[in-house]
Amino acid sequence: MWKVFAFLLLCVCGAYARVSAGDIRYFLWNGRANREELRINQYGNNIDRNAPVKILIHGWTESIDSFWYGGARTAYVGTGANVIAIDWSRHAQLTYPTAVGRLSDIGEFIAQFINGLVNSQGISINDVHLVGHSLGAHLSGFTGKALRNNFRTTLGRISGLDPAGPSFTTSLSRNRLDSSDAARVDTILTDAGLSGLGINRSLGHVNFWPNGGSAVQPGCLYYPCSHNRAPRFFNEGITSRRFVARRCGSYSNYNLGLCRLNPQNLLGEFTDFSTTGDFYLSTRRTSPFAQG
Ligand SMILES: *[C@@H]1O[C@H](CO)[C@@H](O)[C@H](O)[C@H]1NC(C)=O
Repeated sequence: MWKVFAFLLLCVCGAYARVSAGDIRYFLWNGRANREELRINQYGNNIDRNAPVKILIHGWTESIDSFWYGGARTAYVGTGANVIAIDWSRHAQLTYPTAVGRLSDIGEFIAQFINGLVNSQGISINDVHLVGHSLGAHLSGFTGKALRNNFRTTLGRISGLDPAGPSFTTSLSRNRLDSSDAARVDTILTDAGLSGLGINRSLGHVNFWPNGGSAVQPGCLYYPCSHNRAPRFFNEGITSRRFVARRCGSYSNYNLGLCRLNPQNLLGEFTDFSTTGDFYLSTRRTSPFAQG
């Protein structure tokens, strides 16, 4: 009899669970693999165990066809890294509040995926780097929290690309991306403020405020161009060391030259996490964006 109950319980919970493991899909690119689908505890034979793992997480309304995945993938594969692009469109394409409410559950599954990956491949968790845009930045944070809470392990790095503002402006650290979610957390803010899609807060150890960090970013004509500038800058910074930023109190002080002698940092892959704080820089209007 108890078996029947257990079976019914599983069916009922399964049917009503908001998020299940198969909803989230993982695709691998590197020197050997080209869009190979991986699953939790099914990692295939193509992961390069001697290379870092870069995990891309898109934002609201997006999918594996996200506008910035191609550029990030090409740049990182060129450096020899493993790139795993996540598709969470099954939930990302629901209403904004619904998607926000599911981030924690989705993060638990991505954490399971990462924990299985590092254990089966003998890769250091410190070499795992999540790059998330908008809601994907907060989803990266929830993944880091789940790795810590469920597996007692600390993710290497999160790059939060214009972390979403709506619903998060006044959130406590447990409900959003936070610097405690990985050993190293950097953010790039390009649409900060109440009328923007990005958050106006320094959530990372190192926070970059290109052109002041809010709309309208140089060269932007159409909404949501400013919000989407963060991944475009980051993609260029995967291989470029020309996004030189200065620690400063504000963009106006930066422009007045008051921070010229302050410590510098590099937006993109080569960020120095021993120099923390808020960093300002100006960019060009079109690609290549770095001024050098
Ligand atoms: C961001 O917040 C600061 C105060 O912390 C404020 O001075 C600034 O105007 C805000 N930026 C935008 C674009 O709203």
